[in-house]
Amino acid sequence: MSYSFARGRTVQYSVIDTRGRARRTVDIEVSGSPMMHDFSLTDKYVVIYDLPVTFDAAQALPVNMPRWLSAPARLVMQSLVGRVRVPGPINARMNRDPKHSDRMPYAWNPNYPARIGVMPREGDNKDIRWFDIEPCYVYHPLNAYSEMRDGAEVLVLDVVRYARMFDRDRRGPGEAPPMLDRWTVNLATGAVTTECRDDRPQEFPRINEAVLGGRHRYGYTIGASFQGAQPGLYKHDYATGSRQVAALDPALSLGEMSFVPNPAGRAEDDGILMGYAYHRDRDEGQLVLLDAQTLESVATVHLPQRVPMGFHGNWAPAG
Ligand SMILES: [Fe+2]
Repeated sequence: MSYSFARGRTVQYSVIDTRGRARRTVDIEVSGSPMMHDFSLTDKYVVIYDLPVTFDAAQALPVNMPRWLSAPARLVMQSLVGRVRVPGPINARMNRDPKHSDRMPYAWNPNYPARIGVMPREGDNKDIRWFDIEPCYVYHPLNAYSEMRDGAEVLVLDVVRYARMFDRDRRGPGEAPPMLDRWTVNLATGAVTTECRDDRPQEFPRINEAVLGGRHRYGYTIGASFQGAQPGLYKHDYATGSRQVAALDPALSLGEMSFVPNPAGRAEDDGILMGYAYHRDRDEGQLVLLDAQTLESVATVHLPQRVPMGFHGNWAPAG
């Protein structure tokens, strides 16, 4: 899913084939220029999160613009952005201009409708069904799947939800704590129910990707230490509703943990959780490997060089 303020009131869904080429692209009509960090894919559907953080023209204008020009320029920008396609050369210049890079050009927009879009994977813009939800922001879904319940098709969306994003604070995602939610969309009746599964601040949700797009039992998240929460690793069991916390050294801050399945494993949680960490007391970068069933340490690689905390990571087996 691609988004850009230069795209007009559309975002673009692309299917990339195994040779790395776009097999098809679909322009999807939305209500403006939303920031769309991620999306979900089920066995049958593409799910898009059309949420009220949108491009803010005023923030994207150059800092040193003469004051007499800035008000008209802002008005022109605001009237164009999100409505028309910005010509390629102008778009390229705005993206290249270093003066634009230090300010967050997206902001909370109370006038923008918060919606979930559901499109069949081989569908088109006209096939999308939209479902209104309470205003919020989602960077990362954990997983999504659909199943039949009492003769009705139901879509289950597990997401990390923020109640607000870039409203008063544009410097980072610090305004509202990220919580683990389960949203259920009844595709027969259109009813949407939301439920907070865990209100401890947490982020970077991952699962065993062998079940991605289908029904999962387990999810793994990281305690959001950027929110002042205890660093830690949480394992959520959706079958029992229980939550397990890894007993980690409190001086250890974890980054995103990838689930690496045991090739001979059968159980969904038979594998290793692997990711970079920072040990504050030792001022040391580590590669941490935990048993995903017990959350006990399997191994720690003490790195000779600190690896800065990043956002995402993936395991790619050799060969
Ligand atoms: Fe991300």
